[in-house]
Amino acid sequence: MSDPVEWCIDEGPEMNEHKALILDEVRKYHDDVAPTGEFEPGVTEIWPTGAVHDVEDRLALVEAALELRVAGGSRARKFESVFARKMKRRKALLTNSGSSANLLALSALTSHRLDDARLRPGDEVITVAAAFPTTVNPILQNGLVPVFVDVELGTYNPTVDMVARAIGPKTKAIMIAHTVGNPFAVAEMAELAAQHELFLIEDSCDAVGSTYDGEPVGTFGDLTTVSFYPAHHMTMGEGGCVLTSNLLLSRIVESLRDWGRDCWCEPGESNTCLKRFSYQLGSLPHGYDHKYIYSHVGYNLKITELQAALGLSQLNKLDDFCATRRHNWRRLREGLEGVPHMLLPEATPRSDPSWYGFVVTVDPQAPFTSKELVDFLEDRKIGTRRLFAGNLLRHPAYADQEHRVVGGLANTDIIMTQTFHIGVYPGLTDQMIDYVVASFKEFVAARG
Ligand SMILES: Cc1ncc(COP(=O)(O)O)c(C=O)c1O
Repeated sequence: MSDPVEWCIDEGPEMNEHKALILDEVRKYHDDVAPTGEFEPGVTEIWPTGAVHDVEDRLALVEAALELRVAGGSRARKFESVFARKMKRRKALLTNSGSSANLLALSALTSHRLDDARLRPGDEVITVAAAFPTTVNPILQNGLVPVFVDVELGTYNPTVDMVARAIGPKTKAIMIAHTVGNPFAVAEMAELAAQHELFLIEDSCDAVGSTYDGEPVGTFGDLTTVSFYPAHHMTMGEGGCVLTSNLLLSRIVESLRDWGRDCWCEPGESNTCLKRFSYQLGSLPHGYDHKYIYSHVGYNLKITELQAALGLSQLNKLDDFCATRRHNWRRLREGLEGVPHMLLPEATPRSDPSWYGFVVTVDPQAPFTSKELVDFLEDRKIGTRRLFAGNLLRHPAYADQEHRVVGGLANTDIIMTQTFHIGVYPGLTDQMIDYVVASFKEFVAARG
């Protein structure tokens, strides 16, 4: 690998003039393609998730593209420092997806740099099967054993008691998502982890902006992860982030993300440690160039500057996005209150969720099936999604994987057949939400 010094346009005054013209045209283009037209019930798609972009996003991407600095650079570093502050963590490390963030966070716990505390093959990590697969996959990918506990219906999270009962002599960590933005009892979970000397990873991919006891989720565990896929609270198209206040874990994540290297100089930088040619690590000769010393068996999971440019622009709108998600969720919750045969979602006590979606569980005794309801909604262009994998253990990929189940997965199985979610993303209007509520009521009145 050679240093990734990319070719850059040397912007003279003439180039700047062209750039201004181009950006002006981009503004006009944005106006041309901006969606127009009224909401037409039953015709306009009501998406279950989606990104909301404005002209600033388009300009940010074009401006970054004009610079032709494609590999992550100053924008990526700026995003990391602003986002770390926003999430109240000392370090934020961008990566190319939420799944990569989970892989990096869990893999970091296996590092030799943690000495005796490191996770070793065969050690156990407590998690849930009512999950998105890549919350659990890093456990298997690292040769560790997932221990599955059930979740509650309504909050869709495990309780601290369920997790406590699963702790055994080989348990070394807990890795759980705040399901659809609804925090699990994370302060108590962190306390439990501390009592048993376990690491805690909070998968906050669906929960940016959610708080527990007034503090942002992600500030309770050792590491937290975020996704910037378009379905999430803000987007980079693809992207993710690992956050931590533990500087050793941050260094390990950075090394694993960046090929496993020991050096932490940015591309184009050299010798920021002032010891580039005086290290002696492994059985390498003294003074071997630190830029090419590898302390982990790593990956390349870095992000591009274009993604960071979009991320910075989206970050300006994050608080508004979260507020609209809360508003949309409340409007659905109030509208659907009292509709029979359905369990409506509940925020975990002491939490203020920044919701990813609105989860509905159809009573197994209802005079209709959840499929019939989903088909009815989909026919009306109201998009639905499952609660991710339902029960991961029932998928072919997991059939032969070593694991333990503690306490049974009765609710997880109910979720697999009875549960789905609809959207609360900021692109939805009150008119759309009122139509969704009316559609539920019409269906139940006809079948109930
Ligand atoms: C809880 C959770 N974790 C991780 C991910 C993976 O994120 P990404 O799609 O960015 O890889 C998702 C994706 O939706 C998710 O919902």
